[in-house]
Amino acid sequence: MSAKDFIIAPSLLSANFAKLGEEVVNVIASGADWIHFDVMDNHYVPNLTIGPLVCEAIRPCTTAPIDVHLMVKPVDRIIPDFAKAGANIITFHPEASEHVDRSLGLIRDAGCQAGLVFNPATPLEYMDYVMDKIDVILLMSVNPGFGGQKFIPGTLAKAKLARAKLDAYQQATGRRIRLEIDGGVNVANIAEIARAGVDAFVAGSAVYGAGKDSDPQRYNSIIAALRAELLKASH
Ligand code: DX5
Ligand code: ZN
Repeated sequence: MSAKDFIIAPSLLSANFAKLGEEVVNVIASGADWIHFDVMDNHYVPNLTIGPLVCEAIRPCTTAPIDVHLMVKPVDRIIPDFAKAGANIITFHPEASEHVDRSLGLIRDAGCQAGLVFNPATPLEYMDYVMDKIDVILLMSVNPGFGGQKFIPGTLAKAKLARAKLDAYQQATGRRIRLEIDGGVNVANIAEIARAGVDAFVAGSAVYGAGKDSDPQRYNSIIAALRAELLKASH
């Protein structure tokens, strides 16, 4: 994989919520690829964050893809709202949906790319019969609900397994499914994660925790450092 094929997706969860539009603009200007948008409902996960209205509000701030990570239960009711609010990618946790195949179909029908999210203890088998409806696999490397947690090392073996499944699928069909990781990603571990087969990286606290608040270029150096590590991993 060449270095420019890697996606860096800063999670807005660790951004300054009083300046959300500015945070979106600055992080993309600093070289990020996607905006990762964490939706929590205080039911499926023990935290409460942002919904479609906020997605709609930040939509005009960037042309970069908005990657909506739904940590909500139920799933289906809210899908069209995010599609209308300008989401490009919508992922959900299979345990949170009564009908995984239907939820994936609803996301595609709404014009978005669809994906499944696997918690640290959730088996990958959920993907096996719905590969044709999946554009992204998102592996949680922390338990969902909060930013700033520590990367769970067992996720690396799981990423290799997922990579093997996705490679076999690509060989059979020609279609590429992205492998994204979420939780505890930083400059020290991103290269090792890439070597396990991951090609899209959510980073919340590592990106938004970096730099001084007054500097509009404050995310340049952290994103450049992440990319430099990815360059090492691509050799
Ligand atoms: C956790 C969220 C993550 C979180 C990542 O439930 O899904 O996207 O913001 O934050 P860091 O990178 O700080 O672990
Ligand atoms: Zn997330």
